[in-house]
Amino acid sequence: MVEAINEEFAISMVGFDDREEKEDLIPDLFKRCVTSSTYNSSTTTDRKYTQGPATLFDMVTYALSEKVIASQVVAKLQELGLTHYEEKLGEGAFGVVLKLRGESKKDVAFKLEKRPIPIANEDKELFGDALGLKLPSDQHLGTATGLLTYHEGKVHYIENYDPEMHSNHLLVGVFSKVVDGVPLGNRVRIAPLDSEAVKGYGKQLAEALHALHSNGYIHNDLHQWNILVKNTKEGKDPYRLKLLDFGLAQKVNPERVKNEWMSFAHLLTSIASKKKLSQSPKFSDLLYNPERGLLAGDLPYSGNEIVNHPFFV
Ligand SMILES: Nc1ncnc2c1ncn2[C@@H]1O[C@H](COP(=O)(O)OP(=O)(O)O)[C@@H](O)[C@H]1O
Ligand SMILES: [Mg+2]
Repeated sequence: MVEAINEEFAISMVGFDDREEKEDLIPDLFKRCVTSSTYNSSTTTDRKYTQGPATLFDMVTYALSEKVIASQVVAKLQELGLTHYEEKLGEGAFGVVLKLRGESKKDVAFKLEKRPIPIANEDKELFGDALGLKLPSDQHLGTATGLLTYHEGKVHYIENYDPEMHSNHLLVGVFSKVVDGVPLGNRVRIAPLDSEAVKGYGKQLAEALHALHSNGYIHNDLHQWNILVKNTKEGKDPYRLKLLDFGLAQKVNPERVKNEWMSFAHLLTSIASKKKLSQSPKFSDLLYNPERGLLAGDLPYSGNEIVNHPFFV
């Protein structure tokens, strides 16, 4: 058996659990289902090795709670030319992510929502994982290329969201590019990161969050299994990453932004080799400066100041 690293463990590592608030985003109809899946399943985001069912049909039926939708999902994927199921890329509390290969031989990541949830809020704005469709294309953000939805008995493929036509749809799945990498948590499990790696990944993550905040959203679920660190070729920047999973994203407000940067600071401490970093005055300044530090100050550094903080230079 593969060791189960579940999301609660991941969250406890960054010392931040705001699930109660997040659940308020989920309509009552789906709350019970989502909650039970969150707390009871032995979810893991590191299951490349526990592949589960071998065929696309079996995998979709296994992952999706609404069995009547499953066969339609498979039919729609086939219609889109995504006929080959390569492997399971990962799994979290809300979704199972599959690598699919089309006739063009190009791989696609498909996150299948375990429980279909509304695609949009009452104001007809996209929310949850569907948000991936309207995020800015940014090298650090795992944006979506299309959605599968369910509406009036049928599964639909959407590339461009139209609030008048689609706001009542339920989200079944999200397409994105396959990220060639591993969850940050896997990297850290081998050994805590040295100062160079914390700087490298920290800067990229700060840039990812800053881009997201500047576009009006906070991620709201920052932990080591929602960050994929990329396999890089020799000579290239060795610390590239992608921030994934916008399932619990919210609109920005100053308090939320402040909390998100606090989570970011906790995350840095949880991935770092403590002994080495405690000797870095710049790291201490970023986190513990009495006025501006992310964990200590009343008026912590702004996104721009964090990205350009001397620790990351
Ligand atoms: N585009 C992708 N490429 C490669 N792996 C991915 C991709 N998207 C997700 N994964 C893997 O699947 C896991 C679960 O996806 P995630 O969106 O975090 O689901 P959940 O909302 O259930 O937590 C991630 O931790 C990651 O390991
Ligand atoms: Mg996740």
